[in-house]
Amino acid sequence: MTAKQTLLLASDAAADLESAVKLLVSGSLVAIPTETVYGLAADASNEVAVRAIFEAKGRPTTHPLIVHVADVAHARPLSRDWSPAAEILARSFWPGPLSILTPRSDDVSPIVTGGRENVVLRVPAHSATLHILRALHDVASIGVAAPSANRFGSISPTNASHVLAELGGRIDAVLDGGPCSVGVESTIVDCTHEPAIILRPGGVTVEEIATCLAEHGLTVTVSPDVSGVIDASRAIAPGMLRSHYAPRTHLDVFETTDEAERARHTAEARGDRVVLLPHPEDVYQYSRDLYALLRACDESGADLIIGCLPPPGGLGAAVRDRLLKAAAGH
Ligand code: TXA
Ligand code: MG
Repeated sequence: MTAKQTLLLASDAAADLESAVKLLVSGSLVAIPTETVYGLAADASNEVAVRAIFEAKGRPTTHPLIVHVADVAHARPLSRDWSPAAEILARSFWPGPLSILTPRSDDVSPIVTGGRENVVLRVPAHSATLHILRALHDVASIGVAAPSANRFGSISPTNASHVLAELGGRIDAVLDGGPCSVGVESTIVDCTHEPAIILRPGGVTVEEIATCLAEHGLTVTVSPDVSGVIDASRAIAPGMLRSHYAPRTHLDVFETTDEAERARHTAEARGDRVVLLPHPEDVYQYSRDLYALLRACDESGADLIIGCLPPPGGLGAAVRDRLLKAAAGH
């Protein structure tokens, strides 16, 4: 792949936003900010551009991409069977860190879904990206296909410099929209079943989803694949494979700081260079900073990263899921 000049665009500059729209309309790859992590976007209506996403990331073409749209009205025609649960969740949590798995309509190319009959749809809560999605809809695009803007298997980027470190020279532009406010990927809910199934915990919590659906007499379950213990043959979403969110350095995680300290002493006694993953008490801050902290630990040259898990409630479920998967990935 020949190196490209990757443009750095500012999301608060109107001319740069228009450049991002023009680049996407012309089939280029643009990394875009969202509230969760940065996405590597291409016009989902353009199969050549979508194929280029897989190449830039080094991602197998069987791994499906999320389609990002501006609002629920743009989402419905992309589904062959938009269920009551999908409608309720979309109305309650969009724009926001929630992704809905639904049967794809013929408007969505199987290139986007890795050959699957279902598509994952999401309306991200970032004003610059919503502006882009509306502009694309005006020129008859169905939205943007966007996986996280990292090389396959690496840590998701939560600011523009992470994106440049991962994909600089491989993509046409990065739209800098500042650091991501949530910091871990969206919650994915399979709405093709009743009860719905949470496939990946994320910024909208399991409790919020259960409460919302219960108000309409509906229920939700959590996939057994959540939390890091996975049988790859059962994985519904390839992103749930264990190595998916892993740093290069070996990571061990513990429930308490005492256990973490003991593990540190043991590792240091055998001569390992250990770095402790900082552990913010506030789970929102932990989530926001998690990937930047893992990146920094990874770059420290240590032999081992030792981390502490937050309690499992609320957003803690998503942070635990990512940490357990990262720890299991080696
Ligand atoms: O927060 C997010 O969801 C971010 C931002 C950029 O929106 N995107 C993101 O995309 O995390 P990605 O590709 O890194 O992870 C998407 C996950 C993967 O685990 C993928 O397997 C799953 O969604 N997925 C997407 N489409 C699917 C489909 N049709 N069937 C099953 N799983 C699907
Ligand atoms: Mg990803």
